[in-house]
Amino acid sequence: MVTGLSPRQALAELTARLAKAGCPDPAFDAAWLLRLVTGRDPRLDDTPLSEEEAARLGSLARQRAARVPLQYLAGRWPFLDMELAVGPGVLIPRADTEVVCEAAADRVRERPAPRVLDLCAGTGALGLGVRSLVPAARVTLLEKSPEAFAYLRRNCAEQAARPGPAPVPVQGDVFTWQDSLPDGQLDLIVSNPPYLTGAEMAALQPEVAFEPAMALAAGADGLDFYRHIAAAYRRPLRAGGWLVLEIGWRQDEAVRALLTAAGWADVGGQPDFGGNPRVVWAKKPADENNL
Ligand SMILES: C[S@@+](CC[C@H](N)C(=O)[O-])C[C@H]1O[C@@H](n2cnc3c(N)ncnc32)[C@H](O)[C@@H]1O
Repeated sequence: MVTGLSPRQALAELTARLAKAGCPDPAFDAAWLLRLVTGRDPRLDDTPLSEEEAARLGSLARQRAARVPLQYLAGRWPFLDMELAVGPGVLIPRADTEVVCEAAADRVRERPAPRVLDLCAGTGALGLGVRSLVPAARVTLLEKSPEAFAYLRRNCAEQAARPGPAPVPVQGDVFTWQDSLPDGQLDLIVSNPPYLTGAEMAALQPEVAFEPAMALAAGADGLDFYRHIAAAYRRPLRAGGWLVLEIGWRQDEAVRALLTAAGWADVGGQPDFGGNPRVVWAKKPADENNL
């Protein structure tokens, strides 16, 4: 980027460069990067770019043109009423996950101090999102990847400043962690686990390929995590407690079927903002003793 360009000129140049690189929303990305570097709104402030600003913008433009996700370059990203730390090594929180937070929060809003567990937490978007909607919730968040866990710990620490019990990040493996949980204590389990199939992993968009494979891949049919959660995580729920899952848009039927076959009650779901299946929920039967 050239020193001395006005923000408006820089914006036009950056947009053209990102469009040429095939970025899906070049004007949005260019405006975001310009604001990140200069803090100025090109409609209100015509001060030319300094040498330092031009160099930094040039470096970010090169990375974005190589399809590094905008969110990784920004380092923080809005989710519900929070701003979460993100970067290489952790899944970028998606707007569609906000629908899952709302559906989950609706299930425990009336309880005085609900116990909530977020499995495969990444940045903590889902569990911290439920806490932002239900401040009395006591939320534990489980993540296996050391890289992702560093972001989770930071986001939990930041959110602890808000009213309510401090969220608790835990590093562990969803495939074994159930063994450490007592029977019948939790009101709600939420999870947005990895859910892509082998074929989907082979055809990722350039930006998604920068995200960790461990956050995405879930075996040949994409259902490995759902199968395990359905089988192993009803015991730690209280009778009448809820499981709320984010799913891939083609997994609605399969996930509902495996929950029903595993003995869950009141299996249902809800679409996302785009009308695609996104949330599946199920209840531990009210009369079920621990498994
Ligand atoms: C699809 S991402 C979801 C992240 C976050 N819940 C969200 O909605 O943005 C799945 C997460 O599961 C984590 N993960 C993968 N395998 C795991 C395992 N065996 N135990 C716990 N977490 C795991 C990944 O590191 C990743 O952070």
